[in-house]
Amino acid sequence: MKTAIVTGGAAGLGADIAKVLTDNHYRVGIIDLGADRVERAAAALPGAVGIEADVSSPEQVEAAFAAFGEVPDLLVNNAGIVRFGGLEEQSVQDYIDVLNINLLGSCLCARQVAPGMMSRGSGHIINFTSINGIHPAPGVGLYSGTKAAMANMTQAMSIEWGP
Ligand SMILES: NC(=O)c1ccc[n+]([C@@H]2O[C@H](COP(=O)([O-])OP(=O)(O)OC[C@H]3O[C@@H](n4cnc5c(N)ncnc54)[C@H](O)[C@@H]3O)[C@@H](O)[C@H]2O)c1
Repeated sequence: MKTAIVTGGAAGLGADIAKVLTDNHYRVGIIDLGADRVERAAAALPGAVGIEADVSSPEQVEAAFAAFGEVPDLLVNNAGIVRFGGLEEQSVQDYIDVLNINLLGSCLCARQVAPGMMSRGSGHIINFTSINGIHPAPGVGLYSGTKAAMANMTQAMSIEWGP
């Protein structure tokens, strides 16, 4: 049985991705915030297991991947947030949250699976970026920067880990 971990899989695009994967007989780990939300999302999908974790916490990410119990065939780094507002209006906490969840969170999850995928000789990582990562727009500048960085990081992962 193929396996996958979907971050932010309790709602939105991540929930749809988790459903497509379980429909295709993957064992899916749904990593998201809120024990109830995660449990509900996993219970709705046969073959899904819910794991509560904040992707921006190194300790929680490590524990979540250990709880899944195996290096997945596929990691979908979908968890992400947007905080709307001008760059000068956003609070320091907005900067910390958006950078830590969108950029650091995806990197922390990727580094959990990369060594195992490389030693096994197979595996896929999908990182979510955005059209705003290519074309920043007013009011989403902070989000745009994290998505641009994630696109660049994806290329770096590909160059280092792909071969
Ligand atoms: N919806 C769009 O139009 C769109 C467009 C371009 C890119 N994206 C990207 O697609 C991804 C999903 O977007 P969406 O619209 O489904 O978002 P959403 O807000 O509907 O869902 C995001 C999920 O991520 C989870 N999440 C947030 N912070 C988390 C954290 N710290 N740890 C674990 N989980 C966390 C949320 O709880 C939620 O379940 C995001 O990365 C987003 O930037 C979305």
